[in-house]
Amino acid sequence: GKYRVVSTKPMPGTRWINLLVDQGCRVEICHLKKTILSVEDIIDLIGDKCDGVIGQLTEDWGETLFSALSKAGGKAFSNMAVGYNNVDVEAANKYGIAVGNTPGVLTETTAELAASLSLAAARRIVEADEFMRGGLYEGWLPHLFVGNLLKGQTVGVIGAGRIGSAYARMMVEGFKMNLIYFDLYQSTRLEKFVTAYGQFLKANGEQPVTWKRASSMEEVLREADLISLHPVLDKTTYHLVNKERLAMMKKEAILVNCSRGPVIDEAALVDHLRENPMFRVGLDVFEEEPFMKPGLADMKNAVVVPHIASASKWTREGMATLAALNVLGRVKGYPIWNDPNRVDPFLNENASPPN
Ligand code: GLV
Ligand code: GLV
Repeated sequence: GKYRVVSTKPMPGTRWINLLVDQGCRVEICHLKKTILSVEDIIDLIGDKCDGVIGQLTEDWGETLFSALSKAGGKAFSNMAVGYNNVDVEAANKYGIAVGNTPGVLTETTAELAASLSLAAARRIVEADEFMRGGLYEGWLPHLFVGNLLKGQTVGVIGAGRIGSAYARMMVEGFKMNLIYFDLYQSTRLEKFVTAYGQFLKANGEQPVTWKRASSMEEVLREADLISLHPVLDKTTYHLVNKERLAMMKKEAILVNCSRGPVIDEAALVDHLRENPMFRVGLDVFEEEPFMKPGLADMKNAVVVPHIASASKWTREGMATLAALNVLGRVKGYPIWNDPNRVDPFLNENASPPN
């Protein structure tokens, strides 16, 4: 092949490979037997000639790697992820390297995991499963694993972009929850959806659902019974949920995080879980992956899964395909991704700017 494209990990499906090979690329996939590659590992992979790299969110794509990629003649990098807090886009720009991400294909899959964690926490599924397997079930009891009914309660969404909006729709329609959301952008589509569904329920003689756009994040924390976090991780959202804000939440609230770990002060969360046994969390992401803060693993009121929100076959193949297309487009000279403002061009596609 005329171009050398490197993927730091084997990725699902073959479509992404065929796309690149059909367009004259030689594809090299790293098969090192370690989960997390170091900067040195990746520099070795890049070598003397490399036109583009598909990388992972576990890798630190900063000055060092972009400089190495640039020296090897590289023009493109794509994260196989929608989030790109692991990428220093400014550094990439300095070396003329375009950066892409993989939005869209993971919206529903991620929202479905947030919904799964919500239900698992509300109905104490994991605790109950452990109880069952532990041989502790002696027969039905009125008090056994009593949890929360979602119907008629309020779901709070912080960050109503694609994923947050999809999750909100699932919880409102699926469980007849009222919605309160906080986002800098108004999500008119989401508001219209809840209004229309509320009218439908009313016409059928049921209690209608309602929506409210909160004027602060605190308002959501105070009012919601179930809160799901869907912001982008940056300086403004680091430790967005801290000790003070946890204290604002209802004692029996449920908190779900499928965005990025550092959005929550995890040590403060462990204390809060310990002091409030009726408070529950569902976590897909952690502050210092792959580790959990001390004590978290012992908390029965926490459901924890290893960053699998986008892990459906269709989505992962789609992410690989998009990542390959990002790199291919740039390597072939289409000036699609060379503007940092074009990273994730579809963010908040459902939203309109505030008036
Ligand atoms: C996964 O966490 C992603 O950002 O796609
Ligand atoms: C990210 O893709 C989001 O829509 O929140």
